[in-house]
Amino acid sequence: PPPVLRRVAMMRPLVAGWKRANETVGVVPTMGALHEGHLSLVRAARAECSRVIVTIFINPKQFNSTEDLAKYPRTEDEDLALLAPLGVDAVLSPPPEEVYPPGFATTVSVSGLSAPMEGEHRPGHFDGMATVVTKLFGMTEADRAYFGQKDWQQLQIVQRFVADLNLPLTVVGCETIRETDGLAMSSRNRRLDPAARAIAPALHRIMQESAALIRAGAPVPETMKTARAQLVEAGFASVEYLELRSAATLDRVQDLSAPARMLAAAHLGGVRLIDNIAV
Ligand code: PAJ
Repeated sequence: PPPVLRRVAMMRPLVAGWKRANETVGVVPTMGALHEGHLSLVRAARAECSRVIVTIFINPKQFNSTEDLAKYPRTEDEDLALLAPLGVDAVLSPPPEEVYPPGFATTVSVSGLSAPMEGEHRPGHFDGMATVVTKLFGMTEADRAYFGQKDWQQLQIVQRFVADLNLPLTVVGCETIRETDGLAMSSRNRRLDPAARAIAPALHRIMQESAALIRAGAPVPETMKTARAQLVEAGFASVEYLELRSAATLDRVQDLSAPARMLAAAHLGGVRLIDNIAV
């Protein structure tokens, strides 16, 4: 299994040695509870970088409630076993007080992109995410960082602050990995009971069907309204948002004149599921 670093200060000399040897460093930031989606990012990093760091840090600043933070799965032994065969050079997994020592006072906040959808329903979430990801880039001195398209809004925000702050690294966005029935893999899926698990793939299916209708010329507002009703009909408790937006700016769009993305968040069996697809 890869060495686990608990102290941020232990990262610096390790990376310095790699950099002296002109090696490229890839980082895969995660909150653990690893699944094939995370592992696909590690494999992409492994293929493109000579050194790979996986970070496992359940970032308290990006959770809206202490209850959600407490419920987040913690599976370190399993995570390390999954990483063992992938050739990871180091796992950085510091405790919260190591990342946020007394006196910590800085926030990275991306306006515009952080406002709608996840930003609207999870206030402060993206500030917490952007702050910790900026810190992880500083700790690891990575040349390349790997993120999933599963969290499309997060990926756009990371690309934005990396450009805005002139951070010296390349952000790589990787395809969403799905179960065979279409459900996007997520650490939260393990909280779905069998009945909810059977309903869950309807989210991706209904999004795909709606996207096909829009591509065929169906009007966007009516199609999205029908899709919402279909989700509730399928057994979802509520739909937080289901929208067609510009893939890059995340502005609402009503046609396909520029690359568009359909994004959704919906509740099912006490679990909040998100997904997005290209349209
Ligand atoms: P986490 O939810 O653990 O996700 C870590 C990375 O895995 C993210 O880039 C996410 O988009 C990607 N990922 C999750 N499910 C995926 C799937 N089914 N297919 C492909 N990629 C997938 O996202 C976070 O953690 C945190 O916000 C973090 C960036 C680590 C900052 O705390």
